[in-house]
Amino acid sequence: RNSKRQIECRRDIDRLNARFLGIYESLIPPDEEKVKQKQLVTLLKKLVIKEWPEAELYIYGSCGNSFGVSKSDIDVCLAIEDLDVNKSEVLLKLADILQSDNLQNVQALTRARVPIVKLMDPVTGISCDICINNLLAVVNTKLLRDYAKIDARLRQLAFIVKHWAKSRGVNETYRGTLSSYAYVLMCIHFLQQRKPAILPCLQGMEITYAVTVDNVECAYFDQVEKLSSFGSRNKESIAQLVWAFFNYWAYWHDYANDVISVRTGSILSKRGKDWTRRIGNDRHLICIEDPFETSHDLGRVVDKFSIRVLREEFERAAEIMQYDPDPCVTLFEPY
Ligand code: CTP
Ligand code: MG
Repeated sequence: RNSKRQIECRRDIDRLNARFLGIYESLIPPDEEKVKQKQLVTLLKKLVIKEWPEAELYIYGSCGNSFGVSKSDIDVCLAIEDLDVNKSEVLLKLADILQSDNLQNVQALTRARVPIVKLMDPVTGISCDICINNLLAVVNTKLLRDYAKIDARLRQLAFIVKHWAKSRGVNETYRGTLSSYAYVLMCIHFLQQRKPAILPCLQGMEITYAVTVDNVECAYFDQVEKLSSFGSRNKESIAQLVWAFFNYWAYWHDYANDVISVRTGSILSKRGKDWTRRIGNDRHLICIEDPFETSHDLGRVVDKFSIRVLREEFERAAEIMQYDPDPCVTLFEPY
């Protein structure tokens, strides 16, 4: 009887895995969308080069880091070497150029925390944000993309977690919940911590890639094609990992003392980083260290109200994964 029970259980897990993989596949942008994104960036490059021949245009964010779902906006960074020129002036000039090339809804937001030009391409319907000289974002985009190449389960887990966060309204930094970037770092760290580990700590290995950006040294092992069997000793399936991820953030993470750190592949102490007190608006109620700007806590947007919302959502998700007969529906129910 015991083995009959085990077989049924196995079948349930297989079915759940298939459901999660189905959701993951349905979120992946189709090839023709990727082609359209490339076309838009090529057009932007052409326009930018006319005005600033020395400038470079980089894709960052979800379109560059491989964690973008279908219909994502494109994040683009305009890199201009000598910025004696005022950023606002460049943005206004850029908006001018784009406007006169039939792009729609062109807006320069020069007073935003990260000043940008927003636009929409009427041909493809794709929206795009362009910022200036945000090169650390370009480098952390590469880091995330490199991690994604090591084990397919990272991209699967991160898509599911991002989809959950968007469905449940906890992916809104202006309302005190976490950015997509923070969620992906949480997934990477989680897979670094599995036993056996599913992901290595690239910043703790031999350095094969190094750049210094805004006085920050960014260095790590980027020959990730050599690591393609790194996680193969761990056989955990996506359903198990989704369950364990929510379980960790619901019941096991020590919010009072711990900082998760992809840079070291370990947990650091809040005390060690002097993140124990509220300083200005940074409250450190959930601590996620940026892999390069190590003084940045990506949890700094979370306040004493939104931390409750966030933790209740982690608990809800963990309960659903534990007890719900059809978790794939309930997990993503709109809030
Ligand atoms: N970024 C950063 N520091 C932050 C937030 C974001 O450096 N505190 C950079 C990262 O390079 C990130 C990019 O900005 O990849 C875009 O951030 P975000 O909108 O959170 O992530 P996306 O991956 O673009 O997610 P989405 O699919 O929700 O657009
Ligand atoms: Mg984005």
